[in-house]
Amino acid sequence: MNPNPTDGHVWFSPIVPRNGESILEFQRFYAENLKEVTGGENLGFLGPITLTNWERSLVTMIMFPISHDPKQNRKIRDAFRRWVKLAAERGWGEYRTAPSFMDEVAAGLALALIGSGAHTQAQEPGVTPVATKSARGEQVFAYWCAPCHSAGPGMPGTQALQAKYGGKLPALLLQRSDLTPTLVAYIVRNGVSVMPFFRKTEISDADLEALGAYIVATAQTKR
Ligand code: HEC
Repeated sequence: MNPNPTDGHVWFSPIVPRNGESILEFQRFYAENLKEVTGGENLGFLGPITLTNWERSLVTMIMFPISHDPKQNRKIRDAFRRWVKLAAERGWGEYRTAPSFMDEVAAGLALALIGSGAHTQAQEPGVTPVATKSARGEQVFAYWCAPCHSAGPGMPGTQALQAKYGGKLPALLLQRSDLTPTLVAYIVRNGVSVMPFFRKTEISDADLEALGAYIVATAQTKR
């Protein structure tokens, strides 16, 4: 008998190629990121384990216990979202997920797909990378910036910029024709006020370049 039974669980279950290397890579990925994801706390994750039911892929799995403690559950949800992002950067998309995580998982999948597409295209001679780059910039923006810089209520970035400029400059980043890629890059790497900075492991230099170009180009067309 477990004196502290859990009340269920959610899974984080990215799909990886069906080979031993992928299993080892996932184990490494898990070990390397565990501390950052949990803040060093034991959140009771189980795993990672690997499911072999499919012929062409493996599903790796980490289980997160759910409890009656809202504080603990919030930590679990934050950790889950972090895993989704980290895995997406490696090109790993989720097998399936609970409704409350579907948006993050879909964004992560798109990032993973576009990421892998961008790499193959860029290596092919004769393919102009411009469209790929701008699609990539859009994707990076949607994933990392839109949660705070979209239109509508409850957007911390949009609200703060509305307050800062009082309408003299657009509150929406994508309408700011005064921004340059250099300024965007500086702010993304250093953060400003309550806006966090982003590491190269989150937004690579290439992605940052695509992001800056996308923001500037979009603002120019919306002027
Ligand atoms: C957690 C919310 C959040 C996220 C995510 C976020 N920002 Fe911000 N951002 C803010 C806030 C809040 C401000 C206003 C800070 C201030 O008060 O000066 C801001 C300000 C900025 C500014 C400065 C604009 C100005 O005129 O002062 C730029 C540029 C910017 N963000 C770009 C980005 C980009 C690009 C991303 C995505 C990589 C991003 N932000 C992600 C919240 C966020």
